[in-house]
Amino acid sequence: MSATRAPLGLYIHWPYCRRICPYCDFNVYRARAYDTDLTDALIADLSGWAELAGARPLTSIHFGGGTPSLMSAPDVERVIDAAHRVFGLKSGAEIGLEANPAEADALPDLARAGINRMSVGVQSLRDDALKRLGRDHDAAKAAEAVRVAQKVVPRVSVDLIHTREGQSLADWEMELTEAIALGTGHVSAYQLTLEPGTAFARQAETGRLELPDGDAAADFQELTDQTLAAAGFTAYEISNHARTRQDRSVHNSLYWTGGDWIGIGPGAHSRLGCALDGGRLAAEARAKPGAYVSAVRETGRGSEAEVRLTAPEEFAERVLMGLRISEGIDRAALEDATGLALNSARIASLAQDRWINVTPRHVALTPQGRLLADRIGGELAEPG
Ligand SMILES: C[S@@+](CC[C@H](N)C(=O)[O-])C[C@H]1O[C@@H](n2cnc3c(N)ncnc32)[C@H](O)[C@@H]1O
Ligand code: SF4
Repeated sequence: MSATRAPLGLYIHWPYCRRICPYCDFNVYRARAYDTDLTDALIADLSGWAELAGARPLTSIHFGGGTPSLMSAPDVERVIDAAHRVFGLKSGAEIGLEANPAEADALPDLARAGINRMSVGVQSLRDDALKRLGRDHDAAKAAEAVRVAQKVVPRVSVDLIHTREGQSLADWEMELTEAIALGTGHVSAYQLTLEPGTAFARQAETGRLELPDGDAAADFQELTDQTLAAAGFTAYEISNHARTRQDRSVHNSLYWTGGDWIGIGPGAHSRLGCALDGGRLAAEARAKPGAYVSAVRETGRGSEAEVRLTAPEEFAERVLMGLRISEGIDRAALEDATGLALNSARIASLAQDRWINVTPRHVALTPQGRLLADRIGGELAEPG
């Protein structure tokens, strides 16, 4: 597909948080005074991308972080207006924002600024677990934020974390059932991962934190899938569950299907085009907010590194991402973009062991394969 006709998404990274959670390794900084320079830089960076991305209306905008619910509503509106002006928006485009429960009161203004989908960072509905996760809200506040979001935008998702220290399967089933009862159309349920360099990783190294082992993690994943399926949700991605197709995240689907997106804001990543169109462009913006703002002022762009991915690099990315979704890897799209094909001997052997389902169009993980997605992805990431 030619780059200028492919769908295009816009990601905006707001890197500030009230406090830094001990499990999080995203590009985040403690919020002190409001950063009044960042929005101007975001808008200038966005304009700088227009030539590279080609004139095409956006299918989605996503405010992520960090905590973008700490952005002022006028700043959110200015960024959305700039996106309209520079690229235009497809009718019905998804405009999503990650909302922390502590900002429940700000959500109506953010909706008025143009946000039409919110994912609320509930994480848990157990107060002791929220404390251990270092969160600045309790379960009642999280549920209140979900209710506020449901009043002000048509599409709401709940983010949860499972496989926590001391968590039992029986209590997780109850907690997840309570989360489902909040009535959102979308639930993201992530397994708690120990990310290098985080406080939790250090605690685990010194025995102050003990998470359930690998077998238990698989049990949590299975129970999560079963409980959500029984409530009518489809696991359209390993951690993402939607009641209907319309409830699925349009923006995240771009990441999983090898789509194009521009990322603006400190540390944001971008991907444009494909290997057969001269190399897929992979860019990463400067991580520190001050350095990002200075780079945009000096050069009109926030990128620190811009490279063209080789066909095998793009192949590996598409395979690892495509395996995450229920439809699986679109084999024709993979070959069209990279000129490379999956290794047929490896596919046959993984299919025989029931890790993957294979059709002429797709290669997808089986339910048991989903529990070993990374390992299977590693095996398929080298072309045949
Ligand atoms: C980067 S956060 C941004 C959202 C928002 N700041 C919040 O905390 O709710 C996006 C989501 O990633 C998930 N997440 C972050 N670190 C994680 C980890 N180490 N393990 C599992 N999930 C994680 C959380 O569920 C969180 O809602
Ligand atoms: S989980 Fe959310 S609130 Fe916590 S540090 Fe990461 S981005 Fe910030």
